[in-house]
Amino acid sequence: KSQATWGGRFTAGPADLMLKFSESVSFDHRLAPFDIAGSKAHSAMLAHVGLITAKERDSIHSGLDAILAQIAAGKFTWSTQLEDVHMNIEQALTKNVPAAAKLHTARSRNDQVATDMRLWFKHACAVLADKILGAQRAILSVAKRDGDVLIPGYTHLQRAQPVFLSHHLFAYLEMLERDRARFVEVADHANWCPLGSGAIAGTTLPIDREFTAKQLGFVDAKGRPRVTQNSMDTVADRDLFIEFATACALFGVHMSRIAEDLIIWSSVEFKFIDLPDTFCTGSSLMPQKKNPDSCELLRGKSARLQGNLHTLFVLTKGLPLTYNRDLQEDKPPVFDSFDQTALSADVLAGTIEGLTVFRARCAEAVADPALLATDLADYLVDRGVPFREAHHAVGSVVKLAETLKLPLDKLPTAEVKKIHAGYGDDWAVVFDLKRAMEKRRGTGMPGPAQVKKQFARWAKVLG
Ligand code: ARG
Repeated sequence: KSQATWGGRFTAGPADLMLKFSESVSFDHRLAPFDIAGSKAHSAMLAHVGLITAKERDSIHSGLDAILAQIAAGKFTWSTQLEDVHMNIEQALTKNVPAAAKLHTARSRNDQVATDMRLWFKHACAVLADKILGAQRAILSVAKRDGDVLIPGYTHLQRAQPVFLSHHLFAYLEMLERDRARFVEVADHANWCPLGSGAIAGTTLPIDREFTAKQLGFVDAKGRPRVTQNSMDTVADRDLFIEFATACALFGVHMSRIAEDLIIWSSVEFKFIDLPDTFCTGSSLMPQKKNPDSCELLRGKSARLQGNLHTLFVLTKGLPLTYNRDLQEDKPPVFDSFDQTALSADVLAGTIEGLTVFRARCAEAVADPALLATDLADYLVDRGVPFREAHHAVGSVVKLAETLKLPLDKLPTAEVKKIHAGYGDDWAVVFDLKRAMEKRRGTGMPGPAQVKKQFARWAKVLG
């Protein structure tokens, strides 16, 4: 006869191999605080509707508190024999509290695990939003330190136009701000209480779902309880897992693009920055090497985050309603995405915080007058030349500079004027970098007035 909680209709318990294969406690034990919070709320509700007595509720509550303390102290023994976090905790409670046998009234592990995970998602989203905020603050601190230096902005990894370093860094802040908002939104999607959905079709017992939801903080902005609206969808739905993993994966894309910029900038060929020794490693063979390992790993981790998302898509695609045991495999990828995202956000912050900007090297690179070729076209437009024609007329000047092996701004004015009648004697004014930056005054542009505005905005947003 099987000893399992569900063992009544079995003549034999599961094979050792099956236990090893099907256990989830090795990874879902991290749900313990949420599982216990769910059980406390559920038993409070059972007492509220008269399915258990207040005394039974109290004994369940103190028993669960004791278990939580034991777990926190690392003194709880998890058993793979008991399959998952839910069974482990319930069995431990049963040993000391007779009323524990009533805890699972009007509840299934299907709505229980959905509840645990929704509570966990709310917690995980708050943690990650905070970690991303930390990375944003690190970026802002570098902008404060060295943001006034000009660097070439790139398209196609070719020098394009000059920008303040702060403008480039603020682009990162925008990306990360969207990530932060995404986690806030996922937390809001998580904010619906599954308990009461049972295994699939609720219960015949007179429970109060709204009461449980309120106990667990599944409430809207006005404090009204939020309970899920379809018991079948509730136990089958894994959208949140995919949304959470998407938010992590997209953050991963952002951090890997930032990391790639830093890797390029720290190469000898660029030398715009030096990465902190504390986040780099050396070569066991080549003594001169300092490798940007933290950035490379951020790039690498982003692949892992995308892989986790893909796992969840494949896992859920084509599953019949409602719960299927396949869904136990939903947890390792989201836990891994959480762990790696949290760690990566901290590493991103540390790497950026500690970087050194080589200001002279940046100034040298941005002094390239070709970066202002577009400004020269704008100069012609100002003088009535249609842009397409102006573009061509500047292209010819660039070609002449190449032929004469002269910097763009050092060409003889007489030669330039021969190229197009639009060029005046003052054609070279456009090569004044300060003037060029000041002219970029529209919202979102890299001019000094705008950058100042953005500084104020980010200081406020990031606190
Ligand atoms: N460990 C299970 C999981 O994570 C809990 C739900 C089990 N439900 C069931 N009917 N076997 O999916």
